[in-house]
This record gives sequence, C-alpha cells and structure tokens, in this order.
Amino acid sequence: MDIANLIKKRRAYRAFEKVTIPETLFKEAARLAQLAPSCMNKQPWNYVIIQEPNHLSAIVETMSSGNKVWNRNSSAVIAVVTKTELDCEIGPKKERKYYLFDTGLATAFLILFLTENNLVAHPMAGFNPEKAKEVLGIPEDMEIVVLIGIGKKTEKIPDDFSENQKKNERERPARKALDEFLYFNRFG
Ligand SMILES: Cc1cc2nc3c(=O)[nH]c(=O)nc-3n(C[C@H](O)[C@H](O)[C@H](O)COP(=O)(O)O)c2cc1C
Repeated sequence: MDIANLIKKRRAYRAFEKVTIPETLFKEAARLAQLAPSCMNKQPWNYVIIQEPNHLSAIVETMSSGNKVWNRNSSAVIAVVTKTELDCEIGPKKERKYYLFDTGLATAFLILFLTENNLVAHPMAGFNPEKAKEVLGIPEDMEIVVLIGIGKKTEKIPDDFSENQKKNERERPARKALDEFLYFNRFG
C-alpha cells in the first residue's frame, strides 16, 4: 500500500476480535521502527510486547475504565518506554529534549506497519503509570509514554461502548482546518 493510503487507513478503532499475532510480526515492526531518524542516532525507544494472557490481563487492569472496556479484546498491548537521558538534551540547561519526539517518530512507523498488516494499533495515555511500570518491571527512572492496544477490527460495536466510542468507530474524529496549523514563511 502506498504511504498516503496507509496513513488514511490508520485509525484508532476500538471494536476488536481476538487473534494470535506471531512474534515475528512484532520483530519486523520493531526493525522498521528503528529505521526512524533520531537525534545523533540515539534511538531512545524501547518496546515491551505483552501478549501472554495473564500478563495482558494485568496490564489492562492498569488502564482507565474507558480503556479497560475495549482492551478486553486487545490481542496484545505494546508499552512504549523511554527516558530523557537516552536522547539529545541540548542547551545550557539541557532544556531542548528530544526523547519524546524521536520515540514518537519511531512509534508512528511501527503503527503504520501494523496497520498495513490489517491490525489496529491504538495508542493510549489513559493508564496508571506507576502500576503499569510495576506490572512490566520497568526501571524506576524510565517512563511509559503510551500503551498501544493491538487488535483485529470487527464490525460489531459492543453495546457497552460509550456513545463517543461508538461514534468514533463509525467515523474518524474531525481534524482542524489546514489554516489553523499550517503556515508558509512566517508563523500565524
Ligand atoms: C498520545 C495519545 C494518547 C491517546 N490516549 C487515548 C486513550 O487513553 N484512550 C483512547 O481510547 N484513545 C486514546 N488516543 C486515541 C485518540 O483519541 C485518537 O487517535 C484520536 O481521537 C484521533 O482518532 P483516529 O486516530 O481514529 O484518527 C490517544 C492517542 C494518542 C496519540
């Protein structure tokens, strides 16, 4: 699939049916993610793939109630893990930090590859970071940036989804107009 159509295909769907995803697919996704650019090639990203049922239930338990509802049918969850020291920190006070930018870039590649393989990769901020770190054995000084629910989309929308979740399943949430964020030559 060409890149424009792949970007259009990607959606944060929530209605999933369970499938088994081969470990080789996650390895290929990680190999492609690591081709992303990063400041001085620091490659600050780390990924924890959670697919074993007991580990998967434990990580879903750390999610917000709204996320628990749809992640009960996730086939896997990916924790995206990094820390500021893994990437460039530029300036007299090291105030220009690049770890989140670079990790986001790589993760976008990973998400697009999974999308191309007919999986949904839905990022989430709604989880308890302390609990999730404990469940996954993440070192104290590292951050979980997002959890990504990985699923196979199904057309049947569960009754207990919120109205908003049901609506988003049917249509893509609206985007800003181009002139609200795109400028030429000078900002604003
Ligand atoms: C950093 C980040 C955090 C998000 N957190 C959540 C979340 O906790 N729960 C959820 O259901 N969706 C979450 N989303 C998904 C967004 O709501 C979704 O991407 C957005 O509404 C646009 O919809 P689309 O991706 O289908 O185009 C998150 C997305 C990102 C990138």
